[in-house]
Amino acid sequence: TGEMSGCPFSGNGAARTLLGRTNKDWWPEASALEILTEDGRSANPYGEDFDYPAAFNAIDYDALKADLAALMTDSQDWWPADYGHYGPFFIRMAWHAAGTYRTGDGRGGASSGQQRFAPLNSWPDNGNLDKARRLLWPIKQKYGKGISWADLFILTGNVAIESMGGPVFGFGGGRADVFEPELVYWGSEEKWVDEGVETRIIPDEGKALENPLAAIQMGLIYVNPEGPGGNPHDAEGMARDMRETFSRMAMNDEETVALTAGGHAFGKAHGAKPSDTFGGAPESEALELMGFGWLNDEEEIGKGHITTSGIEGAWTPNPTEWGNDYFRLLFKYEYELVQSPAGANQWQPIDPDPEDMAPDARDPSKKVPTMMTTADMALKRDPEYRKISERFRDDQAALDDAFARAWFKLCHRDMGPKVRYMGPEVPGEDLIWQDPVPAGAKPSDSDVSSFKQAVLDSGLGVSELVKAAWASASTYRRSDHRGGANGARVRLSPQKDWAVNDPDELGKVLSRLDDLRGSLSMADAIVLAGAAAVEKAAEDAGFDISVNVTTGRGDAGEEHTDAESFEPLEPFADGFRNYLRTKANVKTEDMLIDRAHLLGLSIPEMTVLVGGMRALGAVSRHADHGDRIGVLTDRVGQLTPDFFRNLLDMGTKWEVVDESGDEEYVGRDRKSGDEKFRATRTDLVFGSNSQLRAQAEVYAESGNEEKFVRDFVAAWTKVMDADRFDLAYARYK
Ligand code: HEM
Repeated sequence: TGEMSGCPFSGNGAARTLLGRTNKDWWPEASALEILTEDGRSANPYGEDFDYPAAFNAIDYDALKADLAALMTDSQDWWPADYGHYGPFFIRMAWHAAGTYRTGDGRGGASSGQQRFAPLNSWPDNGNLDKARRLLWPIKQKYGKGISWADLFILTGNVAIESMGGPVFGFGGGRADVFEPELVYWGSEEKWVDEGVETRIIPDEGKALENPLAAIQMGLIYVNPEGPGGNPHDAEGMARDMRETFSRMAMNDEETVALTAGGHAFGKAHGAKPSDTFGGAPESEALELMGFGWLNDEEEIGKGHITTSGIEGAWTPNPTEWGNDYFRLLFKYEYELVQSPAGANQWQPIDPDPEDMAPDARDPSKKVPTMMTTADMALKRDPEYRKISERFRDDQAALDDAFARAWFKLCHRDMGPKVRYMGPEVPGEDLIWQDPVPAGAKPSDSDVSSFKQAVLDSGLGVSELVKAAWASASTYRRSDHRGGANGARVRLSPQKDWAVNDPDELGKVLSRLDDLRGSLSMADAIVLAGAAAVEKAAEDAGFDISVNVTTGRGDAGEEHTDAESFEPLEPFADGFRNYLRTKANVKTEDMLIDRAHLLGLSIPEMTVLVGGMRALGAVSRHADHGDRIGVLTDRVGQLTPDFFRNLLDMGTKWEVVDESGDEEYVGRDRKSGDEKFRATRTDLVFGSNSQLRAQAEVYAESGNEEKFVRDFVAAWTKVMDADRFDLAYARYK
């Protein structure tokens, strides 16, 4: 993957918007419930004060697990369990809930119960999982607010694995549900995968998988099981697609092999009939079907004649028992390409021994051939995957451990620090992908105030200190709760060298703070130094305000840090610092909105932070832009609303700077034509966009000077504390 595919929102080159194709595009006639969430009204019936982790901790966890175990074999006539056991079906549900996670922006994943809503509820790859969720409803209803759908999907997957003798590493609860579809960029294509859309990777045409996407086509969780673009003969392409998509979800080769083979130790694929004999996806189906889609004929369902993926058959002779038959069969037999009754490409063992046949899903006395998908075949066709597969074939204990750990990671990757995991089954072992931070100590008030004074006396400037604190804290993303100031990873690779952080300046600031900090942690020192700078800037503007810092952050070392896994956290654009490294397909000002969203900011918070940081001179010295770009003030370093006042001043006329394309602008005095300011799209959008202009006006208005300072400090503090789960969750321990 080159520079292009490394950049968020670049790749295939299709011009597009921040959200790509949305639910409104897919289902224009869907009810417009969003008019009821205008003006900040929440769709969440539990309200803001609902403490989900506490509610989860109050349930009878063992009783819940026992109910789930009983559900596994409680077959319902309206959707009978294959082999009398729903376990495999629920594992697929959990895997698809978690499998939308992507490292590029941390979005997707299991943590909010998104599978209930469009578009995920209607993705072709999520076919018939509407039934899995409906089977769970009685248990969801029974435990109510104490178990979210999001937690229930994953816990049910765990219980399913356990109930079939599979290895499980643990479970952490605490995923609070949301009640509306999250606005996530899932791609720009106008067709689903089963409508003949091409794969997103076509190396011959220079097509890389677009960041931050982690699936090979619209409507898939990962890859096309039949092969790239449905071609079963492209063994190399199949492995390439798997490697690319699984790495986008933080899985290496070993984890990919363990997960896929371990998952397919269970259950079967469904392709009894051509799929055009079935109805549409849930979101487009008739009202009286009550949210069900892909309806099969009831009589046919009874016989087990179901089509989901179109592929038909089980992988092993024991589809409801954990074991190593998957690898045993994969290597024991040559496989030939066949077509399922639904017409899908799949692979079948040649001349299987009778004991290596699978039971029929409805009639155990009947034997049917097993199968492998083209994706499964990659586990022996690809040389690297093959080495791992052979090792697992010969070492069941290694497979058990690798599968259990990879499954745990899959299901918990987007939950952030371990302190956010609730319940009795949280594993004691710290895992490197949890980004552990050693506990910090709270410094005394006098240490804090003498440090802040020393910083102000040190000769370090307001802009440098503000930039260092921002660099440290602003990596936080609420999508997967990674990043943030705790741990002070800003002084480690790769962050210390990111262009957005102006590495030379940052290095100088950090080493000076290190000299001054005494017993303070670096993580606290960086935030305190930023606070001292903001207080000074406010004072210089005539406002006496103290910036509250909650200390107690710890310092992570290299041994606590998987450096490679932090690379996707690098911002290719950070509008708060007026930084743009690579122009993306998305407008640069929209990249600011994206970053504000990841930081959990509201529109006013985003606005006041941009205006304040410009006034403080906290902009990046990126080569393409001068270090005063967007700094619309002649009293840099004072916390004034000058940015907004000058931006809205009719005395200035803005023009694009030719050489820059449309990224840089010059503001000239309307009468004399003299240059006054330079600015970027991200600056000017606060004057050009009518909604953002309305925000800018508030902060430019007379009488709101103090409001500006107070709002800035509040938003600043929110960013600095965004990752303090060690505090927020202390009460549950
Ligand atoms: C079922 C493909 C990875 C667990 C299936 C089906 C397909 C498929 C086509 C049949 C769906 C149906 O028609 O009902 C793939 C591909 C993968 C992959 C292409 C990756 C390259 C995984 C992983 C897991 C998993 C990582 C879990 C750890 C399952 C289970 C079933 C299943 C348990 C059986 C569901 C049932 O019996 O109803 N998979 N899968 N798969 N998959 Fe995967």
